[in-house]
Amino acid sequence: MPFEEASPQAEPDGHAAAPAAKRVFIKTFGCQMNVYDSERMSEMLAAEGYVETDAPDEADLAILNTCHIREKAAEKVYSDLGRLRDIKSARAEGGKETLITVAGCVAQAEGEEIVRRAPAVDLVLGSQSYHRLPELLSRLRGGETALVETAFPDEDKFQALPERASAKAVTAFLTVQEGCDKFCTFCVVPYTRGMEYSRPVAALVDEARRLVQRGVRDITLLGQNVNGYHGEGPDGAPTTLAGLIGQLAGIEGLLRIRYTTSHPRDMSEALIEAHAREDKLMPYLHLPFQAGADRVLAAMNRKHTAADYLALIARIRRARPDIALSTDIIVGFPGESDADFEATLALVREAEFAHAFSFKYSPRPGTPAATMDGQVPEEVKRERLERLQEVIDAGYRRFNGACVGKRLPVLFEKAGRHAGQLVGRSPYLQLVHADADPALIGRVIDVEIRAAGANSLSGAICGQS
Ligand code: 5AD
Ligand code: SF4
Repeated sequence: MPFEEASPQAEPDGHAAAPAAKRVFIKTFGCQMNVYDSERMSEMLAAEGYVETDAPDEADLAILNTCHIREKAAEKVYSDLGRLRDIKSARAEGGKETLITVAGCVAQAEGEEIVRRAPAVDLVLGSQSYHRLPELLSRLRGGETALVETAFPDEDKFQALPERASAKAVTAFLTVQEGCDKFCTFCVVPYTRGMEYSRPVAALVDEARRLVQRGVRDITLLGQNVNGYHGEGPDGAPTTLAGLIGQLAGIEGLLRIRYTTSHPRDMSEALIEAHAREDKLMPYLHLPFQAGADRVLAAMNRKHTAADYLALIARIRRARPDIALSTDIIVGFPGESDADFEATLALVREAEFAHAFSFKYSPRPGTPAATMDGQVPEEVKRERLERLQEVIDAGYRRFNGACVGKRLPVLFEKAGRHAGQLVGRSPYLQLVHADADPALIGRVIDVEIRAAGANSLSGAICGQS
């Protein structure tokens, strides 16, 4: 019988005991927006009596919140589904039910195909439908099978979600915008997340306030095209991201604001100006350029050139000279020649990124680039990626190395691995370790940086030896 463990049991004195909690295992793939979505699903399920578990073999409900951006990410889901199928049959032998849900972008993109390939899956839940999870679970318990929910419903899923309950951390994500109308020819996002949608300012200020009340001090505003944000403002008129940041900066107790991911074409003067003016807006900007050759950029439908990008970052650095820039880069886009790839390397050297994410082009079904002529052999992509990563790593080491000897204000987030140590973030998003009192978690403290490691900085709290 489904959810047998959850049924109330009689206590010796005749009172009903609290029902044993149902357990949910959630595995999140891909971007920060999926992290945000998983948190919201977990909160919604907590209201239904579920407790999260890290052990899939204990789970009455297993959710894979998936990513479709590159083939590798999508394929990982199917290998995990193989393992979950085995767990499901082992638990069934012990009389326990396990419901398997595939949520997120693979669910949105592949729909029915998932239950065909992996018949152990009970529910396929597209990225716009996760607020309907409780209702869909009760339909499954009522005997329906293999449900596939991938429509883009009319109702606003954010509106339909319960209020946020459980922020425990110092940092949090807040989805402000979702979807993308840019249609870069390599990208599945416009198909998996749909058209651009911006949440209203009032709902976001409310949600941010509640996060701050629960101890959050640093909020990262999320959107696939976050700087295209145009949510309804208090006066009913569309508000820009700069306007939204201004509203959020007024929240007492919120110390830091970040946003990601931005498109170069939507980097408005007002937003650049906000970096100069707004103390709470951190000097860190993730601004993908994708490729250094103009003909590749044109084939990608990016609608900017390499020169446009360099001019833009020069303007941003004039407004905020210490800003740390990060970016996304694709190698081996169809038709990319050796010379085109050299142009990518040249741009990386010139731009001096603090951080960069680089990927081999992965053809995605249904996107225009997947069927373009001139697909680049895997071996060439691999070599180019290696060369690019060397240049990126050198820049990363330079950026971190230049911090040694400086004082950086660090927002401490949690205990570090070593006793007595805390971990926090610099304004530039670097991880910083320092010996410090746990009472400093949630506070911004100046740290003198003493060393730069492979992935983090370490230092001493100012005023201490
Ligand atoms: N192949 C490789 N990388 C991709 N990205 C998006 N689509 C693809 C693809 N088909 C990269 C882009 C984007 C980041 C999130 O993922 O660089 O900015
Ligand atoms: Fe994808 Fe970003 Fe291009 Fe939108 S702007 S299509 S999300 S790469």
